[in-house]
Amino acid sequence: MSNSTTLQYSWLAKFFHWFTLLLLIAQIPMGFILVRLDFSDLRITIENVHVIVGISIFYITLFRLIYKFFSKSPKLIPGAFFGQNLIAKLNHFALYAALLTITTSGILKKLFNGEKLNFFIFKLRIKDNFDLADQFYNVHVISNYTLIILISLHIFAVLFHQIFLKENILKRMTK
Ligand code: HEM
Ligand code: HEM
Repeated sequence: MSNSTTLQYSWLAKFFHWFTLLLLIAQIPMGFILVRLDFSDLRITIENVHVIVGISIFYITLFRLIYKFFSKSPKLIPGAFFGQNLIAKLNHFALYAALLTITTSGILKKLFNGEKLNFFIFKLRIKDNFDLADQFYNVHVISNYTLIILISLHIFAVLFHQIFLKENILKRMTK
């Protein structure tokens, strides 16, 4: 195992990473359940929780990117084949982009519905525009499938490193 394999992410980077995963495990199924429910108190409750968790993921991703910009991430381990590190970087970049797209599209869908949104530190309501609300909802649905594909590729890459390349990269994000 190369020495650089053992370079660690900071505890804060690890916290952002695993906490986001935990929230997504709840958030993605919650979204799918939500759209299958008829109007009821249960639907309102699930939608409220979905919005709170979604806005939390939005803030966490923003903090995470600001933190990443000002701190040093451990260098990627040398690629086993040409272009491997570029693929890893593109996957990480796309994951951040998908997280920002899915959260902002959800936020804009609600705002253009003319609903008041609670951003924890302030509340916002804007003039409704139902056409735009529909379009942002389409973006929400597409970015959700994109996110699921990107996470699957990401997990596949980690398993590939662990099993076939015998590089314990998981350690960089856990120990
Ligand atoms: C990472 C964060 C998020 C994920 C993974 C996520 C995921 C989903 C999914 C899977 C659906 C069902 C899509 C479908 O198949 O039709 C959905 C619906 C929805 N999402 Fe999100 N979402 C996120 C963030 C947000 C945010 C931040 C908001 C608003 C502030 C939001 C508002 C909604 C609403 C209102 C619906 C249901 C629309 C309806 O049918 O009335 N979501 N979401
Ligand atoms: C079981 C699920 C997951 C596992 C086992 C896993 C594992 C890892 C590992 C080992 C790394 C370090 C890679 C390296 O630098 O060598 C990493 C980085 C990363 N993971 Fe995950 N991950 C998981 C889920 C997720 C999810 C759900 C997301 C976001 C939606 C995500 C986003 C990222 C990002 C953006 C990085 C790069 C961090 C940076 O340098 O900025 N991961 N992951």
